[in-house]
Amino acid sequence: MSPTPKPGILEISPYVPGRSSAPGAASVCKLSSNESPLGPSPHVSAALDEAKASLSLYPEGSARLLREAIGEFFNLDPARIVASGDGSDALLTMLANAHLRPGDEVIFSEHAFLVFKIATLANSAVPVMVPEQTTGSGIKVDVDKMLAALTPKTRMVYVANPNNPTGTFLTSAEMRRLHAGLPDDVLLVIDAAYSEYVTAKDYEAGMEMSSRYPNVAMTRTFSKLYGLAGLRIGWMHASAAVCDAINRIRGPFNTTLMQQLAGVAALKDRDHFWAAIRHNNQWLAWITAEIRSLGLQVDDSAANFVLIHFPKGKKSAAEADAFLMKHGVILRGVASYGLPDCLRMTVGTEAQNRLAVSLIQQFMAE
Ligand SMILES: Cc1ncc(COP(=O)(O)O)c(C=O)c1O
Repeated sequence: MSPTPKPGILEISPYVPGRSSAPGAASVCKLSSNESPLGPSPHVSAALDEAKASLSLYPEGSARLLREAIGEFFNLDPARIVASGDGSDALLTMLANAHLRPGDEVIFSEHAFLVFKIATLANSAVPVMVPEQTTGSGIKVDVDKMLAALTPKTRMVYVANPNNPTGTFLTSAEMRRLHAGLPDDVLLVIDAAYSEYVTAKDYEAGMEMSSRYPNVAMTRTFSKLYGLAGLRIGWMHASAAVCDAINRIRGPFNTTLMQQLAGVAALKDRDHFWAAIRHNNQWLAWITAEIRSLGLQVDDSAANFVLIHFPKGKKSAAEADAFLMKHGVILRGVASYGLPDCLRMTVGTEAQNRLAVSLIQQFMAE
């Protein structure tokens, strides 16, 4: 007999990241992973230099300095923050590891972030994937259907807000209605990886909810707006009891000194923070309008990417993808999210945005 993984593990389709090379193309324009076109704050490289002097020493295990900086920036209690050195992905997984027993049910939406399913199956729990609704703003999480999927076996509900890959969001009122319909012992995990980008007045990232309700955890990341995807820094805010559970199972030194100091430096640079938001607002609107003017449907995105719908058959998403790849432009195919007729495009630099849009124009005109 050979060692056998737990039930569920072999049902997992391993996460496939956005592609980063376009074989044969002279140059590459990567718009497949929702990374920041502005890169990190210049303050980060000084912080990394500072960390170099202490590489032989273990870092402070709880990322205290980083948690304090996050607490100050967002007006949160640092004692109710847990940091992660493997992105917010690891926190989404640890929340599942800490709360799920075999056979428990976990609710998330049909086109939700793939890590939710992986974390569920890794704990021999049962993914309950709920259809989304088509609204005037695009494909969106359906609160009523999420609530209708509750059973006595439900232990967790994951919602990415805004959602990846649609970019649509639940309003504050909708998120609160979802929470109000959950029993107290069901954990609502709000994955707010793209929350910094959202400008809508009727949106909230979830901090007030994770401050007030013991059954709400909010996860965040430095990978998107702060331009630090390569450093893998994430954090979560939740009740003292949920944080206590995660602190018991996380690695003893789960953030490096480099990650801690880089995160602190990134938060200090408010100019960079606002520049990234301004850039995104400008180009998100431009890309959306340009692509819609070609007759293609684009969901209303509140994040740093757009979901583009292509026709079935002629001018399909697969054909568009092949055409763009030939010219070195890499978007994200989202068939694994149940959206085979769509491509997701990240907001890039001005030059990248203009290149990608002009190639999509050419593709549609051919
Ligand atoms: C919705 C969502 N949540 C979480 C993450 C993961 O972020 P991190 O880099 O912090 O692991 C991503 C990254 O693509 C995402 O799209």
